[in-house]
Amino acid sequence: MAKLNINGRRYNVDVEPDTPLLWAIREHVGLTGTKYGCGVVQCGACSVHLNGNVVRSCSIPVSAIKDGDKITTIEGLSRDSSHPVQKAWAAIDVPQCGYCQSGQIMAAAALLAKKPKPTDKDIDEAMTNICRCGTYHRIRAAVHMAAGNTKAKVAGTDAAPSDKTTV
Ligand code: FES
Ligand code: FES
Repeated sequence: MAKLNINGRRYNVDVEPDTPLLWAIREHVGLTGTKYGCGVVQCGACSVHLNGNVVRSCSIPVSAIKDGDKITTIEGLSRDSSHPVQKAWAAIDVPQCGYCQSGQIMAAAALLAKKPKPTDKDIDEAMTNICRCGTYHRIRAAVHMAAGNTKAKVAGTDAAPSDKTTV
């Protein structure tokens, strides 16, 4: 039995100790916004926050979660999609297929919590999640928008954000 605090609610989840946190979140708690991609810590689709730090939940057994640990999934990032990162993502129309995007948003939110005004380099170093649709330039622009960096440009790309963006 794993005791998990997810998005401020406590869950007793009947799973084996080596069950990946991702499966507990998706299959047992029923929060399916967090995605399974590679299962081997490469893609970031499974990203959630653990005590405010972004982690890849496919690689963490529930036995590694301590009492008092706080897990946040995309469903818990805000009540109404009002987190600055979510608003910027919507304003710039970042997603294409969307599969990677909850992980991208969680990585961006964790980055901005630690570094409110990231540079392009900071973003590229922190945002290692894979997007098969190649939305990387819009992701970078949206992170700048969420940071309030209105002077940021989408450099070296013809995949500029949509007309809606002001960056
Ligand atoms: S599913 Fe966890 S990193 Fe790819
Ligand atoms: S939007 Fe399709 S994988 Fe990223």
